[in-house]
Amino acid sequence: MKKFYIETFGCQMNVHDSEKVVGTLLARGYEQVEDTAEADLILYNTCSIRDKAEQKVFSRLTELKRHAKGKTFAVLGCVAQQEGERIFDRAPHVNLVCGSASYNQLPQLLARLESGERRVTGLSLDTDETFETPLTRRDNPHRAYITIIEGCNKSCAYCVVPFTRGPERSRTASSILEEAQQLAAAGYTEIQLLGQNVNSYVDPSNPSCDFASLLRQVACVKGIRRVRFTTSHPRDFGKSIVDAIDENPVLCNHVHLPVQSGSSSVLEAMRRLYTREEYLKRIEWLKRSPRNIAISTDIIVGFPGESEKDFEQTLRLLEEVEYDSIFSFKYSPRPNTPALSLDHQVPEEEKGRRLTILQEKQRGIQLRRNSELIGKVEEVLVEGFNQATGQWIGRTSQNKTLNFTTTSPGEGSLIGSYRLVRVTRAGPNSLVGESFN
Ligand code: 5AD
Ligand code: SF4
Repeated sequence: MKKFYIETFGCQMNVHDSEKVVGTLLARGYEQVEDTAEADLILYNTCSIRDKAEQKVFSRLTELKRHAKGKTFAVLGCVAQQEGERIFDRAPHVNLVCGSASYNQLPQLLARLESGERRVTGLSLDTDETFETPLTRRDNPHRAYITIIEGCNKSCAYCVVPFTRGPERSRTASSILEEAQQLAAAGYTEIQLLGQNVNSYVDPSNPSCDFASLLRQVACVKGIRRVRFTTSHPRDFGKSIVDAIDENPVLCNHVHLPVQSGSSSVLEAMRRLYTREEYLKRIEWLKRSPRNIAISTDIIVGFPGESEKDFEQTLRLLEEVEYDSIFSFKYSPRPNTPALSLDHQVPEEEKGRRLTILQEKQRGIQLRRNSELIGKVEEVLVEGFNQATGQWIGRTSQNKTLNFTTTSPGEGSLIGSYRLVRVTRAGPNSLVGESFN
């Protein structure tokens, strides 16, 4: 039996794509192994969002070059799409290059490799199909990803995604609901809806079914206790989404709303299609909700032309919104993107300085936000157990990690169950509590 090893870089979309690729391979009779030395087929599902992510895959390929004899190498995902056949020049031992928009061709590509072809590619971006497969092999037995829309029609000046994942393609609501029902029947209780821009979801078979309407329908699937979604684009994030969350406790009280910068002029240069004020309007909707919705964001520092004043506006935005968490990055110039040719690039050292200041400020804000929960009771989905501390690891609806002990130890594994936990302590990145049910 042929054995494969797969390693995934990048976002949840990639993680989920890998689950589908694994399912496809298992169905072809391959066996998954955890060690490259044992594998006949080595796959890297790659990310090219920042230069560092891209470099990682080439260093992995170089590391294994010496042991390449008899093995087949596949580069999938965003670097595959971006670099295409150039990958064969940079890493001649690679045999398969396939972008995420072409995964539905994977079985044919694999068959060609199996029949002895040395180099095969799947790089078409003009597919109007989505990669739906009943073969998905999910990693987590309780939380399942469902792709609702693939690709992206925006053109943010810094971003490779429109090039690597192609134009937007929404799945029909009926196929999404069917998958959710199957998952519920298989014991999954949490669903995470995925897309580069979930807010622009429209059911291709029923244009009146938008994202908020889909959310309401998924929340009604029997057996599903939690529904999350990512990622949102502020421009397309409508009030109807907040209304849906208000009305339905199954929809988690957490929204990830990437802002990228607190300065309207930087936002314009980034082609984000909203101003600081328009973004803050959406934050106001979220803050007015009775659900205590946690808000997280993505921020890029050092975009070309970002002045000290612009950066200070980002710092002020952090204070104003009081994010529950942020992902922050130094701007990384990417191939094909409009920002590549902009003047006034910010020196690396200055980007680093801004990132440190930003992250320090956010640490204080998170500690403050988390401390507000001390004394409150939160429901968690138990995800694991930490041997070293003797604590169970839970996740709240707000997507916070809540580590807890129980008053009745020795009752067997709690993983996968829902517990009520009283928060007793708070740190910047997690909470501590005690379960009493
Ligand atoms: N440089 C740095 N960060 C980037 N992101 C996207 N493109 C770049 C880039 N060229 C960040 C954005 C996005 C997140 C997924 O990655 O903040 O929301
Ligand atoms: Fe990375 Fe973006 Fe591709 Fe996800 S879609 S893997 S973040 S480049």
